[in-house]
Amino acid sequence: MSVSPFLTRRQRLLKIIGDGIAVMPTAPEAVRNRDTHHPYRFDSYFWYLSGFPEPEAVVVLVGGKRPKSILFCREKHEEREIWEGYRYGPKAARTTFGFDAAYSIAQFDSKFPELLADRETLWHTVGGDPAWDKRLAAALNVVRGQARAGKEAPRVIRDLRAELDAMRLIKDDFEAEIQQRAADITSAAHARAMRACRPGMMEYELEAELTHEFRRHGGVHAYPPIVAGGANACVLHYVENDKPLAAGGLVLIDAGCEIAGYAADITRTFPVAGRFSAAQKDVYEIVLAAQTAAFAAIAPGRRFTEAHEAAVRVLTQGLVDLKLLAGDLDNLIEKEAYRRYYMHRTSHWLGLDVHDAGDYKTGGQWVTLQAGMTLTVEPGLYIGAAADIPAELAGIGIRIEDDVRVTAAGCAVYTTAPKTVAEIEEIMRHD
Ligand code: GLY
Ligand code: MN
Ligand code: MN
Repeated sequence: MSVSPFLTRRQRLLKIIGDGIAVMPTAPEAVRNRDTHHPYRFDSYFWYLSGFPEPEAVVVLVGGKRPKSILFCREKHEEREIWEGYRYGPKAARTTFGFDAAYSIAQFDSKFPELLADRETLWHTVGGDPAWDKRLAAALNVVRGQARAGKEAPRVIRDLRAELDAMRLIKDDFEAEIQQRAADITSAAHARAMRACRPGMMEYELEAELTHEFRRHGGVHAYPPIVAGGANACVLHYVENDKPLAAGGLVLIDAGCEIAGYAADITRTFPVAGRFSAAQKDVYEIVLAAQTAAFAAIAPGRRFTEAHEAAVRVLTQGLVDLKLLAGDLDNLIEKEAYRRYYMHRTSHWLGLDVHDAGDYKTGGQWVTLQAGMTLTVEPGLYIGAAADIPAELAGIGIRIEDDVRVTAAGCAVYTTAPKTVAEIEEIMRHD
């Protein structure tokens, strides 16, 4: 792994913090049961600045005339490494990850007050982890206790998030390359699920196909996958994935691979038996047209919300065509009449987090898109069964989700899983 993008980011942040000092701890390990942990996942901000994969680590950036980036991490430990695996230890971590200095995490509470003394501003992710808020408050008190020795504690505490979020919002080329890989693996996984799907299978059997494709490329699920047969697709956060797939229904899969920390986020909806019914196809084509309209509204200088507005217009017209809504189009949009069938927004930022860092509005205005921003485009229609819904439409839930990067000319779609009715029916043919 090249350390230069991480170094560049630390240098940028050092400029931003001026004479201040910044602290960014990684995530704690999480217990799953008794002495067994969840698979470890680093904190995304910490990773963005370090590329360092181990728990119990902290980046400290000391600004000023001679800026320094410091890593605190676990010591090497012969016995623990036999049980738990390799640890870099401060010495190897410093050189491998390009830090100016590295110390044992056990020294943090004694060393950090020394670094903090006589700094005007302490930057950290205030409230991000109560244990760290407490630890940093204790360090501030140590410095305050040295007032008679002439030491001054920072008077200003600032939230690092705003600065880091703004940096993370515009992806660099190094990130774009990883995001393309995450998208490629995820696209292949969705295609694999389509090929494997047979009526009577359990939803979790399709989940297993996705997991197989992710793991064979070294990835993991970026979020709990949704495999929702039939009307389960109308439950937006359905993750049980434990029901059989009925022949006449659709199945909605929302799943994304995380690779080197970066998430892809794809949704595909396809017929369990490989052929769309006329009604399923009608709804599908509306959602697909909504996505195409949303793509066309993504370009530098356009507002974040324009893609959503473009999708909503097509979806609302579609609901009128399906006779689920009646009335004047602008009026229906104004009244948000579509919300019974489309209750979420069309996009979110995508990166290290599946719902990535970055503002959506600043000063009350929707953010203006710039090249390098990365977002999902995920219109859907969810027609739950109800007395006033025609039988052929009842229980149809469709979402189509792809990942795009804003480019100088408009947007580039990272994700390539089969998507048109023809593509899906072709890949699902068993003859
Ligand atoms: N998979 C989460 C989302 O689509 O936002
Ligand atoms: Mn999404
Ligand atoms: Mn999704």
